[in-house]
Amino acid sequence: MLDLSMIAAVFAQRKPGHSLPQALYNSPDVYEFDLQAIYGQSWILAGFTCEIPRPRGVLALTIGRSPVVITRDRDGTLNAFHNSCRHRGAQVCSDGAGARSRLTCPYHQWVYGLDGKLVHAKDMQPSFKAEDHGLKPVHVEEVAGALFVSMAETPPPFDRFRAELEPLLAPHRLNEAKLAHQNTLVEKGNWKLVMENARECYHCAVGHPELSLTFPIGEAKGGHFAKDDDPRHQAFDAKLASLGLSKGPHIGPWWQVERFPLREGQVSLTMDGRPAVKKLMIDGDDPDVGSLRWAIEPHSFCHSTSDTTVYFSAMPTGPHETLVTCKWLVHQDAVEGVDYDVERLTALWNVTNLQDRDLVEMNQRGVHSLGYTPGPYCEEGESYVQRFVDWYCDKAQDFIAARTGIDR
Ligand code: FES
Repeated sequence: MLDLSMIAAVFAQRKPGHSLPQALYNSPDVYEFDLQAIYGQSWILAGFTCEIPRPRGVLALTIGRSPVVITRDRDGTLNAFHNSCRHRGAQVCSDGAGARSRLTCPYHQWVYGLDGKLVHAKDMQPSFKAEDHGLKPVHVEEVAGALFVSMAETPPPFDRFRAELEPLLAPHRLNEAKLAHQNTLVEKGNWKLVMENARECYHCAVGHPELSLTFPIGEAKGGHFAKDDDPRHQAFDAKLASLGLSKGPHIGPWWQVERFPLREGQVSLTMDGRPAVKKLMIDGDDPDVGSLRWAIEPHSFCHSTSDTTVYFSAMPTGPHETLVTCKWLVHQDAVEGVDYDVERLTALWNVTNLQDRDLVEMNQRGVHSLGYTPGPYCEEGESYVQRFVDWYCDKAQDFIAARTGIDR
């Protein structure tokens, strides 16, 4: 049982504009709290429509330590459930995507329909009621080919997010994509250090020489990339308008969505700035539409360029351990070895993720120090980190206040 008054006391030590108190980065109690109050109460970008495009599709993932499964019913309806058997709790489906007509628990073979109803439980006593033992539902939403789930009883409002993301993301046609590759990386760091690192490029010029070729490091002001007085940006805006592409930005309580131009002469986030996929995901044959960055608190960001969408997700697996999952989507008709090469498609983010892992692990080692003191964020270079930690602290303290009456 979590001691919320103890957690509240840790948040009370927080100094705005500074990195967080040490316990928020390394306490096992705070880790348990984060699973419930943050990952258990947020919308999670779980995957993509193309991973379960047809009826009988199943996509399972673990959020924190809670297995969740998304199903596409026989009539195409999406459902999501806690992936925990109503018999003795076993994980029913292994993580990953596949196709099934039923969900059968591997332990004692209870069988669920794709709508979560229990349809068979062998040898149970006459008093047993199958209708009382369906899989517990989880909220699910689909936006322009992206799948979101929330384990919260009452999730954060979704409509404004949908209205802001959909028009920007729809031209990237994720509904017509396929998963070209995915991989995972274990980082020995608290998930908030992973996400703080992912929300800033203050470290990029030195930390990411490869990313610096294409990503407009240092060009963002106050977190935004728009430079209305710059002729290159004006030309970029005019081109987007001619192609019918919007750029935002849209900054919501738990999301940031913005399209921005890459460095001059670069059209994709690859090692050489050229598209990694011959068959583009957007209409037309001009690959120079910059990158649509869409970031979701608490755990993810995506970059949608003309040729691919790259997904980054951070899942806490311990107080000082985070599982990072990366996925690359390409046009469903693109043929591996003909239209793209996985090595070339993934090279930039693979090297960037490894560099970030080293930075996060170095950060965690220093944060463990008896000498650690929260330090000031750079207002310009780390504005999105401040947004992230402000969001985190607000959400955490709202959770505590609703259950204890302890106000911030
Ligand atoms: Fe699933 Fe027993 S735990 S059938």
